Amino acid sequence: MFTELLLVLVIGGLIFFLVQRSRTQVLKTEDGWWGAGAPSDGGEDDTIRPFKVTTNEEELEDLYRRIDHTRPVASLEDSQFNYGFNSQYLQKVVSYWRNDFDWRRQVDKLNQYPHFKTNIEGIDVHYVHVKPRKVPEGTSAIPLLMVHGWPGSFYEFYGLIPLLTEPSDPNELVFEVVCPSIPGYGFSEAPHKKGFDSVCAARVFHKLMKRLGFQQFYAHGGDWGWLVTTNMAQLEPKIVKGLHVNFAPPSKPGLPMALSLMLGRRFPKLFSFTDIDIQRLYPCMDKLVVESIKESGYMHIQATKPDTVGRGLNDSPVGLAAYILEKFSTWTSQDFRNLEDGGLTRKFSLDDLLTNVMIYWTSGCIISSMRFYKENFGKGLNQPHSKIPVYVPTGFACFPNELMHTPKLWVKEKYRKLMTYTPMASGGHFAAMEEPQLMAEDIQNFTKIVEKKKKKQ
Ligand SMILES: *[C@@H]1O[C@H](CO)[C@@H](O)[C@H](O)[C@H]1NC(C)=O
Repeated sequence: MFTELLLVLVIGGLIFFLVQRSRTQVLKTEDGWWGAGAPSDGGEDDTIRPFKVTTNEEELEDLYRRIDHTRPVASLEDSQFNYGFNSQYLQKVVSYWRNDFDWRRQVDKLNQYPHFKTNIEGIDVHYVHVKPRKVPEGTSAIPLLMVHGWPGSFYEFYGLIPLLTEPSDPNELVFEVVCPSIPGYGFSEAPHKKGFDSVCAARVFHKLMKRLGFQQFYAHGGDWGWLVTTNMAQLEPKIVKGLHVNFAPPSKPGLPMALSLMLGRRFPKLFSFTDIDIQRLYPCMDKLVVESIKESGYMHIQATKPDTVGRGLNDSPVGLAAYILEKFSTWTSQDFRNLEDGGLTRKFSLDDLLTNVMIYWTSGCIISSMRFYKENFGKGLNQPHSKIPVYVPTGFACFPNELMHTPKLWVKEKYRKLMTYTPMASGGHFAAMEEPQLMAEDIQNFTKIVEKKKKKQ
């Protein structure tokens, strides 16, 4: 009698577990209001206004005056980038910025694509919207939303956009691309109220895409863009056709992850760990702890008191450049910390790097960009979105120098319909900017697989 009861319980439990696992859980959210003061009763202004990046003499004179008054402090001998941005090299960057960098030319470059603003939940949301010039007969362009992170901007996608909207190979899919600025970043207005987190950004971007008339679309993201697009897939799994990410730190360390970490080195096959997985997951434990303390100070500051240090950065272009570009060095390759010039120009041009800095400088957005950490971490790590899996077809591009390596098993734990997982030959955290060709190829490959499957159904 007892064994029968036990059997029933076990089978029942198993069925319950399987049903639970296969049920699509949808993330819930409620409309917000982020404008100053109380919501206006006149209803939402849903007009879409063309926007152009502009500059003027006064802005440039103010910038040069501040640069000219910087107070250099010599870096320690032999310290390279290990104490932060190297001061001697910073002087070189700043001298280029002051004397050779042509912001007016870069503004024209930014304006080569159409920009717009529209008001959502009380704040102006900025985005770049690029339609392909021509689409093969009998087909239509595939809408794709691409979301940046910190300390980046929509500009990170400028090398990738033409590869997707004007592919050279006629067999490639043609995309129509929308790159918004997260509210509080670049030319999007900063929320005036507390609490604007990744789920709010996801909801706002859904409203944006709806306003633009897209019934369904694909989404791509790295850094915070990964979380915002992931939340979008969780909010509206029927509207997001496919999700492509190049960053996916585990949001909720579960049993499979713990087991795989404990046993994966001895039994790699059991967890489908590759040689790359083993190499990247098992530095000795001290190294792991020391490295994460070394590199996470900025996160602690931004998740607690962004407004204090942010004021200094918002007053000093040199301080701002050091703060932002240190990340473009170390997050591209940790080995760059041992180079006098932080390896910055091995992967990027100073023009591109300073253009990104200028987007933060001219819009004065560094404090509001840092607050996004506080809003996301401030609610604790046990958020509904970190507990709910993603049921939208997903593609993962695994770049070798990404900050945190995530084996396929871990990605699959969160993204239940993982269609592609591509180990890349080169690239780091700012992969869309560093390796636009590889990223475009992977987005193409992934989207083709999802489209083919959809057609079959
Ligand atoms: C995309 O698919 C092609 C054809 O299968 C393959 O040769 C290429 O390596 C893939 N590229 C990426 C980045 O996944």
